[in-house]
Amino acid sequence: MKNPNSNAQNPVNSFSKLFNLQHYLLQTLTCFLLLGSGVTLGIIISFYIKDFTFSLQFTQFSLSSTQRMSLLPPLNATQESNTSHVRLGLKEYLEPPQVMHDMNDEELLWRASMAPKIHEYPFERVPKVAFMFLTRGPVLMAPLWEKFFKGHKGYYSIYVHPNPSYNGSDPETSVFQGRRIPSKEVEWGKVNMIEAERRLLANALLDISNQRFILLSETCIPLFNFSTIYSYLMNSTQNYVMAYDEPSSVGRGRYNHHMYPEISLQQWRKGSQWFEMNRELALEVVSDTKYFSLFQKHCKHSCYADEHYLPTFVSLKFWEGNSNRSLTWVDWSKGGPHPAKFLRNEVTEKFLESLRSKRCKYNGGNSTNACFLFARKFLPSALSRLLRFAPKVMHF
Ligand SMILES: *[C@@H]1O[C@H](CO)[C@@H](O)[C@H](O)[C@H]1NC(C)=O
Ligand SMILES: *[C@@H]1O[C@H](CO)[C@@H](O)[C@H](O)[C@H]1NC(C)=O
Ligand SMILES: *[C@@H]1O[C@H](CO)[C@@H](O)[C@H](O)[C@H]1NC(C)=O
Ligand SMILES: *[C@@H]1O[C@H](CO)[C@@H](O)[C@H](O)[C@H]1NC(C)=O
Ligand SMILES: *[C@@H]1O[C@H](CO)[C@@H](O)[C@H](O)[C@H]1NC(C)=O
Ligand SMILES: *[C@@H]1O[C@H](CO)[C@@H](O)[C@H](O)[C@H]1NC(C)=O
Ligand SMILES: *[C@@H]1O[C@H](CO)[C@@H](O)[C@H](O)[C@H]1NC(C)=O
Repeated sequence: MKNPNSNAQNPVNSFSKLFNLQHYLLQTLTCFLLLGSGVTLGIIISFYIKDFTFSLQFTQFSLSSTQRMSLLPPLNATQESNTSHVRLGLKEYLEPPQVMHDMNDEELLWRASMAPKIHEYPFERVPKVAFMFLTRGPVLMAPLWEKFFKGHKGYYSIYVHPNPSYNGSDPETSVFQGRRIPSKEVEWGKVNMIEAERRLLANALLDISNQRFILLSETCIPLFNFSTIYSYLMNSTQNYVMAYDEPSSVGRGRYNHHMYPEISLQQWRKGSQWFEMNRELALEVVSDTKYFSLFQKHCKHSCYADEHYLPTFVSLKFWEGNSNRSLTWVDWSKGGPHPAKFLRNEVTEKFLESLRSKRCKYNGGNSTNACFLFARKFLPSALSRLLRFAPKVMHF
């Protein structure tokens, strides 16, 4: 505005500055006095009219509350008057009334990742086995499974993740009725296969009573009756995620160096995707963002994420509780990228007995038990024989 040096050279300016300063001080003092008495007066007044102020504030509160209400979208008549959807007791929170929902994957995994912090259940918790079917269409061995589940309601939960385009339905009386979960496209060997497995786990975790989680395909069969499998799993102190170090091109050869340092070549594992695990590990799997996102980014093309993600993740972080073997028998002896398929003529009593009688270490230590509780891959033509042999060989 002005040259800063011009003031110092003019004595008149210096005098008026001094005068201004005095004037300014006086003004400030007056201001403080007025303000002080104002505050005092304010306190006195508000003390006398406290009741009035209070009622004024109260009126303001009810007013703004009404205003807030009017900002919400209006509830339509059916929503407001229909109270039949209100959840009534703890029971309705323990097990979702319907498995179908419209949560997206992000919302579902987040919801499923929660665990109770109070460890004593305020109800009688009957632990259940979650049978999770990852299928293209129908569960091909459904009639055999129906027989297997019969009479054991309350001890199991079923979840089916078919291809989204599958439009078939199950009979009203079927154990698979209403057990289809929201699904997405799955391609063999792609990372979206793991996304589907995590989706199955997350849906099953929403039921607080599910304690053991088994992944099955449409061609899987049970080798033992329900009570034997239930006891085996409930008494187990281990998880069954197959994991081994495969030095060849179909093992370590699929490792991508971009995963380093989170995953090193020495930590890379291979194994069958058909797992069985307890609730604690299932919670860790749905909550894993670190390792899973590495696989989403760097396990593509001939990497086959479904054969490496869980074996590597579990061996890295939760190897202590893992048996490193699968409970699902499969025949790789014929070579090639896919295991052998079993048709009608290959299914004999002797064959089924041989699968049932294989022995493995159970719960560490020296005790042994059956190696395999399930087997694959059985085609529809094998069904009639399986149904016929089930009572005699498999006791169901
Ligand atoms: C009321 O809500 C239901 C469910 O949200 C919806 O299907 C229906 O169309 C709504 N009706 C009106 C009149 O808005
Ligand atoms: C209330 O909702 C339930 C489903 O949540 C439905 O079966 C029932 O018919 C509804 N009742 C009325 C009066 O709209
Ligand atoms: C199911 O899908 C098939 C094609 O994939 C179609 O031919 C058939 O009509 C559909 N059935 C129903 C009941 O929608
Ligand atoms: C289940 O199978 C076992 C043998 O695996 C048998 O001892 C048991 O009696 C069977 N249980 C039922 C209820 O049939
Ligand atoms: C666990 O095993 C014991 C005997 O080994 C048996 O008595 C018990 O019933 C089993 N528990 C379950 C849940 O099956
Ligand atoms: C499973 O494999 C891990 C290494 O990945 C090893 O440390 C562990 O001892 C193995 N567990 C059993 C039961 O063999
Ligand atoms: C396992 O067997 C070995 C040899 O037979 C024995 O020395 C050891 O004490 C056994 N361990 C248990 C836990 O029974």
